[in-house]
Amino acid sequence: MSKQRATRVLFVTPEIAPWAKSGGLGDVSAALPATLRAIGVDVRVLVPAYPSLAAAFKDVKAATDGFHPGGAFAPARLLAASVDAVPAFFVDCPDYYHRPGGAYQDAGGNDWQDNHLRFGLLSRVAALLGSRDSPLAWKPDVVHCHDWPCGLAPAYLDFLAGPRSATLMTIHNIAFQGVFPATTLPELGLPAESFAIDGVEYYGNLSFLKAGIHFAERISTVSPTYAREIQTDELGCGLGGLLRHRSARLTGILNGIDSAVWNPATDPLIAQCFEFARIERKTANKRALQVRFDLGPRKDVPLLGIVSRLTHQKGLDLLAAIVPRIATHPAQLVVLGTGEPELEAAFRALAARFPGRVAAVIGYDEALAHLIEAGADIFVMPSRFEPCGLNQMYSMRYGTPPVVRATGGLADTVVDCTPDTRRRQTATGFVFNELTADALLEAIGRALAAWNDKRLWRALQRNGMRRDFGWQTAARKYSLLYRSMINFP
Ligand code: ADP
Ligand code: GLC
Repeated sequence: MSKQRATRVLFVTPEIAPWAKSGGLGDVSAALPATLRAIGVDVRVLVPAYPSLAAAFKDVKAATDGFHPGGAFAPARLLAASVDAVPAFFVDCPDYYHRPGGAYQDAGGNDWQDNHLRFGLLSRVAALLGSRDSPLAWKPDVVHCHDWPCGLAPAYLDFLAGPRSATLMTIHNIAFQGVFPATTLPELGLPAESFAIDGVEYYGNLSFLKAGIHFAERISTVSPTYAREIQTDELGCGLGGLLRHRSARLTGILNGIDSAVWNPATDPLIAQCFEFARIERKTANKRALQVRFDLGPRKDVPLLGIVSRLTHQKGLDLLAAIVPRIATHPAQLVVLGTGEPELEAAFRALAARFPGRVAAVIGYDEALAHLIEAGADIFVMPSRFEPCGLNQMYSMRYGTPPVVRATGGLADTVVDCTPDTRRRQTATGFVFNELTADALLEAIGRALAAWNDKRLWRALQRNGMRRDFGWQTAARKYSLLYRSMINFP
């Protein structure tokens, strides 16, 4: 049997850490392609040429001349660079991407008015590279699209003639769908017949994510539990019916974590490195947090930590509601997050009300995120829904058992501490089901009690720290999925 050539994959994403990151998708887009390459997949990344990328990669070369992508799109060209040994193409279009602010919003937190064009262009270029008219010699077998900003790529490809790449649509968060008025259809250069229920139309509007789910050959999401949940009316955010219809094409592949960046034994962003054999060194990180936030450097008081977008999804309103009751225990709390103004205000008010017990840092701070993972005793993630979630995996790796709600990837990664799981040495945290403040409080109460039992706590830390959350398993599953989608000549 002759050896098959490497599968060629175009990995299309609106985020890539650390240059463009609003959440876990940025982390995934940095780590997964590198692991795929390491196992022999010829993967190349396609991402908008944000100013942060242009500044970081000064040696980029032009990969194409300028071209007109059709519709009302501004002209663009492709730049080529190597991002941590992964070849990447940047979609260069100064009109769309050269601005201060985030990938999706301006500095004031308002969505860019032309997001349909910004991400329509990303999708359009992805489709072009997957078509016979591609300006590049390298032709992908699979165009792998991530979240709504890439959702139109499978639609564009469907309407192109000639041989073309297969498409995989990965859903990282179904709550974000990229829905725009029907009037954007001609601007986006989509044919009139695409505006149908069997197309890009969604309740009279145009939906990027619905288009991706409808037109892609295969669909995946970032945990097996979330793959089931998004087929329900409750968690499908209006797309549950379509996903049920396409369920034979849908699969859940659990994310990994970048175990080089998130490694307590080598992490340059924490106060003191540690591993399980030297777990006592973890306390220097707790102390650093306590000193920094005037919490009183007490070893005998457990410290709860949170690093999160402060949004409805994350369920932190439940936590805010019970902080006064947690404060009746000897416990401290550090919250790092940014997001909805009401939640930011709620945590600021709790910090003011419980000085020396509660600290709230409203903002985005990568280094502090690492220190909280390392220095907290218990990590809290009471999400309403959580497609995968990375922070609970970081926390287990840092010997910080998490308290999580049994949803999505949280249910798939954290093993609740019960007599049975203790005996089997698999318990890694505390899991609760009901979406109520009381259920969260009960789980936190169990964690606080366990923390006081030193042997039990060490066992939980050991079980979590020795779990392998690396990207290898997921990369092998994606590689098999890609292969199942193509016919090699
Ligand atoms: P989501 O993508 O839904 O926000 P994940 O758990 O998958 O959730 O990923 C969140 C990522 O963003 C993690 O890497 C986490 O450390 C990071 N993060 C979230 N909020 C902050 C913040 N305020 N400061 C620093 N890092 C943050
Ligand atoms: C989304 C989800 C999060 C997931 C991340 C990466 O942002 O909210 O749960 O971990 O994507 O897949």
